[in-house]
Amino acid sequence: MEFSRRTQRIRISGIRRVFEAAGEDAINLGLGQPDFDTPEHVKEAAVDAIEDGRAAGYTSNVGIDALREEVAEYVGFDASPENVLVTSGASEGLHVAVQAFVDPGDEVLVPDPGFVSYDALTKVADAEPVPVELADDLRLEPEAVKEAVTDDTAAFFVNSPANPTGAVQTEDDARAFAEIADDYGATLISDEVYDRFVYDGEHVSPANFGENVVTVNAASKTLAATGWRLGYVVAPTEAVDEMVKVHQYAQACANASAQHGVAETLNDERTDEEVKRMSDEFEARRDLVLERLDEMGVDCPTPRGAFYAFPRVPDGFVEECIDRDVIVVPGDAFGDAGEGHARISYANSRENLREALDVMEKVVAELR
Ligand SMILES: Cc1ncc(COP(=O)(O)O)c(C=O)c1O
Repeated sequence: MEFSRRTQRIRISGIRRVFEAAGEDAINLGLGQPDFDTPEHVKEAAVDAIEDGRAAGYTSNVGIDALREEVAEYVGFDASPENVLVTSGASEGLHVAVQAFVDPGDEVLVPDPGFVSYDALTKVADAEPVPVELADDLRLEPEAVKEAVTDDTAAFFVNSPANPTGAVQTEDDARAFAEIADDYGATLISDEVYDRFVYDGEHVSPANFGENVVTVNAASKTLAATGWRLGYVVAPTEAVDEMVKVHQYAQACANASAQHGVAETLNDERTDEEVKRMSDEFEARRDLVLERLDEMGVDCPTPRGAFYAFPRVPDGFVEECIDRDVIVVPGDAFGDAGEGHARISYANSRENLREALDVMEKVVAELR
């Protein structure tokens, strides 16, 4: 068979390859999803929709009205239901955004290190990813984005709170990114899937400050429902009209039961309580991880959100951890500038984290 240049340009993510290398009893700190179950009332709302027949058929391509209304209310910036396209997870949201705004040969700025999809989706669009290195505190500097913008830049990604770093951009950053998008005519694709997991500071959407922004989010992390495949994109209506064309032919519609379940619970008080419970637990684990890394003398810029720490580690650290059944992901799986770091996901129990940190302590002592 002869495959397209497009698929040959991308590879299965380095994260998967790390998992495959690990033993069965390993403590997995490579996971990119909450280690909690979806809240009961959210599950019940989806099951009810299946049982009473509301989830049997296709929904409209853009998503059910009730969910579009709830999302418009949820996002915290000025949006109406017509600005919302419901997708199969944030992953598809990122894909349709790139497809709608990026032509072959265009440049797309991606944070380096950054979430693995940005580089790959750019290549799938036959465009050129341009890495933008992060600052020492692992934030993406608006100045660095400005310097990287050229006449060929079609779009740039911002991800706050960020995977793999846990960095949270400030309100000033959000404003500056929106202004760059307006000034340079480059679409800002703002990936906000970790918006509810912020431990210091607060989450501010760039869409508060400009028109040229596509906001991507999902129920995946917020509702501990990565398997539901339910995400959404919020953008000006003419952008929704373009993106829905790709979505229609690739996906038809997002999962109907998930749409109903999320529509009925996204802005619910019980949901807020459950999300806070998860967020408080993540924060306690973050503190635990930071304290232990500090005791080991491992430098780790404070992750202020998401559920990842991204310390600077000695050479050989990741391999030694994996050999001793603790899975962490090498920083360079997220871009060349991630080299010398490891991503530690603390979406795992405190007990497992303590055990894994004991192993890391020995590894660090031996490698020094
Ligand atoms: C930054 C970021 N964006 C998007 C996604 C994909 O989310 P979804 O499961 O909703 O497709 C992930 C998943 O790990 C992520 O970390």
